[in-house]
Amino acid sequence: MKNMLVTGGCGFIGANFIRYLLEKSDFDGSVVNVDCLTYAGNPENLSDIEERFPDRYIFVKGDICYKEGMARLFNDYEIDTVCHFAAESHVDRSIVGPAAFIQTNIVGTFNLLELARKNQGRLELFHHISTDEVFGSLGKEGYFTEETAYKPNSPYSASKAASDHLVRAYYKTYDLPVTISNCSNNYGPYQFPEKLLPLMILNAFEGKPLPVYGDGLNVRDWLYVRDHCTAIWTIMKNGKRGETYNIGGDTEMENIRIVEMVCDILDELPVPKRDYPRRELVEFVKDRPGHDRRYAIDFTKLTEELGWMPEESLESGIRKTIKWYLDNQEWVDRVRSGEYQSWIKEQYGQADC
Ligand code: NAD
Ligand code: TYD
Repeated sequence: MKNMLVTGGCGFIGANFIRYLLEKSDFDGSVVNVDCLTYAGNPENLSDIEERFPDRYIFVKGDICYKEGMARLFNDYEIDTVCHFAAESHVDRSIVGPAAFIQTNIVGTFNLLELARKNQGRLELFHHISTDEVFGSLGKEGYFTEETAYKPNSPYSASKAASDHLVRAYYKTYDLPVTISNCSNNYGPYQFPEKLLPLMILNAFEGKPLPVYGDGLNVRDWLYVRDHCTAIWTIMKNGKRGETYNIGGDTEMENIRIVEMVCDILDELPVPKRDYPRRELVEFVKDRPGHDRRYAIDFTKLTEELGWMPEESLESGIRKTIKWYLDNQEWVDRVRSGEYQSWIKEQYGQADC
């Protein structure tokens, strides 16, 4: 693995992964980050990396659905490894506008697989990043394992399920060296503030309402993004080709409890105090259509076969995340005001995806 193509590296998990790969891991090759910079992609997430690793990191603005451009990129950079993050990733957006999810998540993945197949002689690994949401919703008991049948409920999870099937099919049919990981909900630095944790952290800090869907008793498993990055790299290095690995944090929690945890930590911190407990900001709002009740993930296979375990507890991870958002107000302001988008247009021209 010398020349790695990372797709969607300007998004939340991709940016954390590139940072981990270059700063902390034993990877000693180069990274080509291709990202078309949707609302969720922000090259500023990696501007220091670009400066510090000029010989090992390059950013190319491009759409994974654009066949000719991607083919040139595979060729020019002699890509031997693909780590595929690029996706439309927000369930609520997929309910309002599913088309982009079908295009990027399914057609884009298919396009990359075809290119990988054409470059099979050189290709060492195609690692596909996916989600536990492909398995659908659990009742009160049980866990998703790698053997659980797929039963996706949102356009987002259905599009990710389709892409997982394609990746697996390319292994079975063409012997393409692939691995797949299905991970639970991530949180941590650089997450776009539309997802639960950054939204609640920023609203609670600012004294704005905290919109909790339905009765707030939906359960998610939460993983600190850095732990996801170590898991991905472990699988890429040592995972068996053709296999799927579940990744999770063993941190199941009801949404309302996690929101209350954020409120309580902020109440304790020496940030401008509110004269009321922040929990009072919670507002139960209309439920999301088709809202999955519970996700819980069994990642025994990853632990037993590859020796991976998460390092961060939910509380320590949330404390770190709150600190990051409070310490990075400039990033928050630029992202929320859309200023980063104007900067992107100046630097890279009009968005083309
Ligand atoms: P994100 O929305 O923060 O980032 C997605 C990135 O992909 C953005 O930089 C965006 O510009 C880019 N992108 C979108 N369409 C593209 C296209 N057509 N061509 C090139 N780039 C494109 O998403 P994230 O939360 O970082 O998720 C990354 C991956 O991890 C996704 O595949 C997602 O399904 C998966 N995942 C996410 C979570 C989570 O909790 N966030 C959990 C499990 C799996
Ligand atoms: P989200 O961060 O959108 O991730 P996902 O839907 O992929 O799990 O949402 C996490 C949980 O939080 C989910 O059960 C929906 C809920 N939620 C709210 O209650 N309020 C909100 O404002 C958001 C964004 C999510």
